[in-house]
Amino acid sequence: MSGHALIIDYGSQYTQLIARKTRAAGYYAEILPAGQPLGPALAKEPGALILSGGPASVNSPGAPTLDPAILASELPILGVCYGMQLLTQNLGGRVGRAPTNPEASDGANQIRARQTGDPQSGDLKGGEYGPAEFSLTVDSPLWAGLGPRLEVWMSHGDSVTALPPDFEVIGQTRDLPRAAMASAAKKIYGLQFHPEVHHTQGGERILLNFLRLAGLEPTWRVGSLVETLTADLARQIGDGQVLLALSGGVDSTVAAALLSRAIGKNLHCVFVDNGLLRHQEAQEVKAALLGEFPDLNLIAVDAAQLFLSRLRGVTDPEKKREIIGQAFVDVFTAEAKKLGPIEFLAQGTLYPDVIESSSPYGPSAMIKGHHNVRWLSKDLAFTLVEPLRDLFKDEVRVLGASLGLPEKLLWRHPFPGPGLAIRILGEVTEEALAVTRQADKIILEELERSGLAREVWQAFAVLLPVKSVGVMGDGRSYLRALAIRAVTSVDAMTADWARLPDSLLARWSSRLINEVPGINRVLYDISTKPPSTIEWE
Ligand code: XMP
Repeated sequence: MSGHALIIDYGSQYTQLIARKTRAAGYYAEILPAGQPLGPALAKEPGALILSGGPASVNSPGAPTLDPAILASELPILGVCYGMQLLTQNLGGRVGRAPTNPEASDGANQIRARQTGDPQSGDLKGGEYGPAEFSLTVDSPLWAGLGPRLEVWMSHGDSVTALPPDFEVIGQTRDLPRAAMASAAKKIYGLQFHPEVHHTQGGERILLNFLRLAGLEPTWRVGSLVETLTADLARQIGDGQVLLALSGGVDSTVAAALLSRAIGKNLHCVFVDNGLLRHQEAQEVKAALLGEFPDLNLIAVDAAQLFLSRLRGVTDPEKKREIIGQAFVDVFTAEAKKLGPIEFLAQGTLYPDVIESSSPYGPSAMIKGHHNVRWLSKDLAFTLVEPLRDLFKDEVRVLGASLGLPEKLLWRHPFPGPGLAIRILGEVTEEALAVTRQADKIILEELERSGLAREVWQAFAVLLPVKSVGVMGDGRSYLRALAIRAVTSVDAMTADWARLPDSLLARWSSRLINEVPGINRVLYDISTKPPSTIEWE
């Protein structure tokens, strides 16, 4: 592939946004974590390099450094925040502590740092976090179609205190005289603010201006990948047999559709009913899939008793995940044995999973034992097939639509592999499952009826291990509380609680209290991620 952008990731929470925005505009972009060898990525002949932000200070020992191959490539470069500072340091300029914004107390800084999702910026004194007014002081191709002032999003402790030779300032804020720099001759640019975040006015335009001045063309379309991906899969698998863990979620469904197109009957999809699914989910998934792919080899395994018996008495969230992951492995291994020799295991791994597992800060940043399939790849001697590993979720939906999958399947809310087990705080019993399942059904029904289901990333019930006193009829009740979690998000990495109309909250409350036995109190969770997470466990 040529003419794409290569993004070097120095650990910013926003790096993926850069790739998503440029891809959505038709410019293919790949992310490479800093510290990994550049050779193979450069061999694919990118046409431009983007250096991301990151939480470190370029002056701290152990901070990620600039690979000399980056400057040696002589490609156009855009450095964002940390990326700008790295360029400055390596091209003969200077980086120091940013001036303290007199309006920002330490407390305010910490709050802003939390809002920006940058775990280390909360410790910083000085610097700028949040919106700033930016003036475009020089006519530059980077500013084409913009100006003269933009509200931009800042999140930095350091800043450029002396420009490298041959660079000029092309924009500033009140506190930062060198907020953007350029060497037009070398086509190297630096921005102290984050053009990739939603809050930066004209940010996407700036990214696209850079790619355009680098000579790239917006020719990439996810839908046109169907033929290439199908041919690649057919070549990789040949006559081999493939086992696919099908959850009925978007990723595994699209993976199944692609593989079925590539290898037909050599694909064996295993759908496990682990007893932790939503109301009627097993039946619905089976019906929907067979409706779309009547020829699909779909093996539905009822393993509810196995999962529930292993979960008995367990309350620790990570222990639950581990037990469920291991039970999945056991079920799949047994099915694989029944099917005869199976060489490949297919997974709907997405690009964010690939990037996160190779983050410059390593797996220590892992908050929860996600990715149920983690255990699979470790324990089973299969070759992995991951047809979606270069794509983001929104791209997978577009691909699914190009494959002819119906919207109903493509727009299902994500549902975690451990299912309702991580939405029942405390022990997972049949009774707790019945309560949570019924509450979940009501929440989804009413959300659907309100017409807001697409605005919401996920909405679900969480059964709490807390009892409270209530009054029902003339009697006292002492029953459990149930929380509703409804969030908006673009990629589940950050999330906000959904601002839903009172009428919907009222419908939820009244139906839940009246129809679901065992609860007498309904709460609406108003926590953002971070610092909370979407699921409660
Ligand atoms: P958190 O709770 O970390 O969740 O904010 C982010 C997204 O991931 C889903 N999730 C999981 N998915 N296995 C999964 O397949 C898991 O163990 C798991 N835990 C959380 C969650 O529903 C949300 O969409």
